[in-house]
Amino acid sequence: MSIQLGDIAPDFSAETTEGKINFHEWIGNSWCIFFSHPKDFTPVCTTELGEVARKMPEFKKRGAKVLALSVDPLESHKGWIGDINETQKVTVSYPIVADPSREVAQLYGMIHPKALDSFTVRTVFIIDPNKKVRLMITYPAPTGRNFDEILRVLDALQLTDKASVATPVNWKPGGECIILPSIKDPEEMKKKFPKGWKELKPYLRMTPQPDTN
Ligand code: BEZ
Repeated sequence: MSIQLGDIAPDFSAETTEGKINFHEWIGNSWCIFFSHPKDFTPVCTTELGEVARKMPEFKKRGAKVLALSVDPLESHKGWIGDINETQKVTVSYPIVADPSREVAQLYGMIHPKALDSFTVRTVFIIDPNKKVRLMITYPAPTGRNFDEILRVLDALQLTDKASVATPVNWKPGGECIILPSIKDPEEMKKKFPKGWKELKPYLRMTPQPDTN
């Protein structure tokens, strides 16, 4: 059966460009962005992995580790990292899983044969420190991902976990939030949302983004 939101992310052991890892152990108490790309030495993937390297300080700030995967072998990944660093002016500082047996790719449903033969498509999983899958998105091979969007979702998930709010359409950090419909007690609302709120409908109550620190 395919992975669904809320599932525990399947555990695995694999060779990566930074040594062998056991996935759950490697995640530890961090969040994890686990993403697949179709193939080494391809143009879109080169720009994506460069952008992820550039954004590493942003992932670290949010307590998130990053793990990439393709079905190419380890030596290929190692050679390609040189090209990524050279052309994208970065230093790739996160591991890339080598999965030539396609074991991990199959486990995570990363191969969509009707779209792309036997290579992995562009999947992204956000996994929380409890190892629960919190986001899954899949892009086609010719479309490069927007990693600002992945960071935005990570911010939204971390906010929701801390502050009884959901985030509306096109939310950005610092923007207005929605009070969870399950919160109904006025005293609880005053305590949780000291900045106040607007009730547009009983189910649609907007509040400035709560402070979480
Ligand atoms: C790319 O990364 O450029 C790519 C990979 C597979 C199919 C199309 C583009």
